[in-house]
Amino acid sequence: MKTAIIGYGKMGREIEQILLERGHEVALIIDVENRSELDAEHLAGIDVALEFTTPTTAYDNLRTCIEHRVPVVSGTTGWTERLEELKQYCTEQHSALFYASNYCLGVNLLFMLNRQLAAQIERLQAKYGVEIEEVHHTQKKDSPSGTAITLAEGILEHLSSKKQWVNFAPIFDVNAIEEKRPVTEEDLVIRSVREGMTPGIHTVSYESEDDRLVLQHTIKNRRTLAMGAVIAAEFLCGKEGVYSMKDLMK
Ligand SMILES: NC(=O)c1ccc[n+]([C@@H]2O[C@H](COP(=O)([O-])OP(=O)(O)OC[C@H]3O[C@@H](n4cnc5c(N)ncnc54)[C@H](O)[C@@H]3O)[C@@H](O)[C@H]2O)c1
Repeated sequence: MKTAIIGYGKMGREIEQILLERGHEVALIIDVENRSELDAEHLAGIDVALEFTTPTTAYDNLRTCIEHRVPVVSGTTGWTERLEELKQYCTEQHSALFYASNYCLGVNLLFMLNRQLAAQIERLQAKYGVEIEEVHHTQKKDSPSGTAITLAEGILEHLSSKKQWVNFAPIFDVNAIEEKRPVTEEDLVIRSVREGMTPGIHTVSYESEDDRLVLQHTIKNRRTLAMGAVIAAEFLCGKEGVYSMKDLMK
């Protein structure tokens, strides 16, 4: 594949290494200094692009790829209030988009178990309180993490006692969607913690008066995330449409 990397930060660099190891060409690298090169001329002949930038820049970058009908793997989190709009644009343009809040296989298994567990607790009408915690490195720009939001959505889909998620984030995080009102029984709390170099720990805890049940995933390095994104790019190459990890895992 002839690829483009948009965002040459921690993930972009890791992705480049894996693309090269797997025999692909990295024909274009875009970062802040040369962002004006994300245009028709430079995208010509690119089979697939991988976008890992920032919450404020992802939408425009992805839209540009879609406009020029370059299939694009989207990894940036913290901007997904516009994801539906972009999916629609992609369909209209007959282009291709792959979005995952987390490209790690283990996390996607966690998503599956999380939904199954919530559905089972609902069926049994078991009296458990539920909470999500996510821990990431201090450079992470968005809060809560995209992965925590996906976990919350999986629970909200099945547990009728919870109506919406609310976030408790560290005070220093200016982008945090911090709740200003008191929490109610219908809120699903997501606690965000920012410390050290942690690549990502996600925990879903169910607690009753008598016991505690925990689903937890810890990412040990970024390579697993980059590998998942490259596999998604290989999957997307030559396709049209909107895809997610559910399609890849089939
Ligand atoms: N979906 C996943 O599995 C997954 C995994 C890891 C990280 N992420 C997300 O990916 C994003 C990037 O993570 P990272 O750790 O590489 O961050 P990073 O800060 O190390 O890198 C981001 C890069 O984007 C560049 N950039 C900023 N604006 C740009 C623009 N307009 N055009 C091109 N490049 C631009 C920055 O200069 C920087 O080099 C974050 O949103 C993070 O949460 C997602």
